[in-house]
Amino acid sequence: MIITIDGPAAAGKGTLAAKLAEKFVLTYFDTGMVYRAVGLQMLLGKHSLEDKTAAEAFAKNLTFQKMMELSKNPAFRSLEGSKAASIVAAIPAVRVALLAMQQNFSKNPVFADGTPANGAIYDGRDTGTVVCPNADIKFFITASPEVRAMRRFKEYDAKGEISSYDEVLKQTIARDKNDFARESSQPAKDAIIIDTSELSIEQVFEKVCEIIDAKQKNA
Ligand code: C5P
Repeated sequence: MIITIDGPAAAGKGTLAAKLAEKFVLTYFDTGMVYRAVGLQMLLGKHSLEDKTAAEAFAKNLTFQKMMELSKNPAFRSLEGSKAASIVAAIPAVRVALLAMQQNFSKNPVFADGTPANGAIYDGRDTGTVVCPNADIKFFITASPEVRAMRRFKEYDAKGEISSYDEVLKQTIARDKNDFARESSQPAKDAIIIDTSELSIEQVFEKVCEIIDAKQKNA
């Protein structure tokens, strides 16, 4: 079973995906990591984020192992790392270079320890439209920019990263503008859209589980 969860930054996709993966015993591919890995290598190598050739080269050479290594760097999920990921993700050649790696995983999904899984949960922007267009169930999770910025601000604050709510809101809006300029980031035609602005994580989880259970019964 392949489930895709797309939507804007900080809509709650990651938390939801991890909970679903545990409940339905599926592996989880956070596809934002491939773009974060390229963005971080650009920052570490002091390349201009506009250097399309360098970004494409990092994307072409990216392996799962390298991505996992880079994810341990504190800058991987920082404000600066998020911005870099969003900029390199807008380069078409980078997206093309990273597609096979994301798609291959769905053909042979495995858990972190290498054991085979019965399926995978994908989260990202284009997993229901481009990466896994034949997914069994597709969700598009969203929330207002203000609600999402507050969630991210609290995350940064808990990690001790200096930021202000206004700065995070500004970046959330800038990332939305960048990420949703692509047609592929619009909800897939067969995606179930859920606005989480007024819902707790538990309420979203319950709602999504009901939908998956019903789909599985009908299958
Ligand atoms: O999901 P996350 O916030 O970690 O993604 C980081 C960035 O990677 C996003 O802002 C977006 O620009 C890019 N991304 C993408 N397509 C995906 C996943 C992430 O363009 N499937």
